[in-house]
Amino acid sequence: MSLLIQHGEIVTDGKRFRADVLVEGETIAQIGENLAVPEGATVIDASGKFVFPGFIDPHVHIHLPFMGTFAKDTHATGSQAALIGGTTTFIEMLAPAGSEDLMDGWRTWTGMAAGNSACDYTFHIGVTRWDDRTEATLRELVGEGMKSFKVFLAYKGAFGIDDAALYRVCRLAAELGVVVTAHCENADLVSELQQKLIAEGKTGPEWHEPSRPESVEAEGTAHFATFVEMTGAHGYVVHLSNARALEAALDARSRGVKLDVEVVIPHLTLDRTYAERPGVEGAKYVMSPPLREKGNQPRLWAALERGEIATVATDHCPFDVAQKHMGDGNFTLIPNGIPAIEDRVNVLYTQGVSRGNLSVERFVDAASTRAAQIFGLYPRKGTVSVGSDADLVIYDPAYRGTISAGTSHMNNDYSGYEGWEIDGRPEVVTVRGQVAVQGGEFVGDPARGQLLRR
Ligand code: URP
Ligand code: ZN
Ligand code: ZN
Ligand code: ZN
Repeated sequence: MSLLIQHGEIVTDGKRFRADVLVEGETIAQIGENLAVPEGATVIDASGKFVFPGFIDPHVHIHLPFMGTFAKDTHATGSQAALIGGTTTFIEMLAPAGSEDLMDGWRTWTGMAAGNSACDYTFHIGVTRWDDRTEATLRELVGEGMKSFKVFLAYKGAFGIDDAALYRVCRLAAELGVVVTAHCENADLVSELQQKLIAEGKTGPEWHEPSRPESVEAEGTAHFATFVEMTGAHGYVVHLSNARALEAALDARSRGVKLDVEVVIPHLTLDRTYAERPGVEGAKYVMSPPLREKGNQPRLWAALERGEIATVATDHCPFDVAQKHMGDGNFTLIPNGIPAIEDRVNVLYTQGVSRGNLSVERFVDAASTRAAQIFGLYPRKGTVSVGSDADLVIYDPAYRGTISAGTSHMNNDYSGYEGWEIDGRPEVVTVRGQVAVQGGEFVGDPARGQLLRR
């Protein structure tokens, strides 16, 4: 089976150029001008369109038992929505409840994903407690090709771990050459502030942000950086939301600490006023770290363009309106998370490239290449190169549309981006050479996705 994509503008590895791409089987066989059409090949005319490497979302939650409920997507709905939005690989947080054995968690998550994902996927291994089996299990899972861990400094009493466990995770990761990804908020401060606000009768979603202010995240970031520094590990701060936390990360980097920074699309584009809407309308926008003062966003965009922030993920974590109502009268009970796996690329292109905040080269780098490099998927993923997997996005920058829950493919009944206009969308998306999306609809094999061992 061959596929020839003609006349597109390829953007990859910091370069943009016009060329044809020939796909043979699952991989890219040739890139060049005026390539001959092999007999029987499918030909796609990409004139006026970009050809991007498939996008990688390095931070999503699909199966997630959390705050007394479960996130809404299945691997089927989440992966097809991802593909429609141009994401061809996601890295899911495998996050067992602190009471669950990690090896049981591995079996649960891989069992749920196997045969049910339309796109390729892999896992960050969540370390949510440290017991006498944890180290051996982590060594075994690294042997299975899972080259990143996830720790939560937040969520006291749930996913959160203490400093002794954090030290052990980082030390083991340094030994094994594995990246430690971390949710950086000081759990005790959050817990104390939550109790104080609730006692004062401050119970609505508008109090979620004040319960975990910017300084609490900046402290968490500096705290994590210290453990990375002490152990010589490679750290990765997930969903960094504000300028003060960014300063903490850059300060550590200036000392030579190996620390990468991720931002997620909600923090780049939505702000705290969304969560200040009354009742469940505000609850729809409750996530952690919280949506912040809009004044942080220019700083985040600038750092992203400069590469100080490496990647843009989603932190896709969908709860529906009924679930968001669980926190009526007590914001600490609102399930945290915003759905975005389908919207990340289009919103980043529109608010970034189209609005002049981001070059198209950096857009591709931040939403695909850097994640592949950091997490051991490059050059199989994250680039348009001969020999790479033919995960390709033919992107139409002339498309104009509007985001709405009614037309979304995520398993949710609201969109955080309801009514937002998008400039461009993926016209065709391929997964290892097979067309999975055409004209905004999934047309692929719902079971094509493979677990990526890194
Ligand atoms: O609010 C969020 N971010 N929900 C998902 C869990 C996490 O902290 O990533
Ligand atoms: Zn988190
Ligand atoms: Zn998350
Ligand atoms: Zn549809």
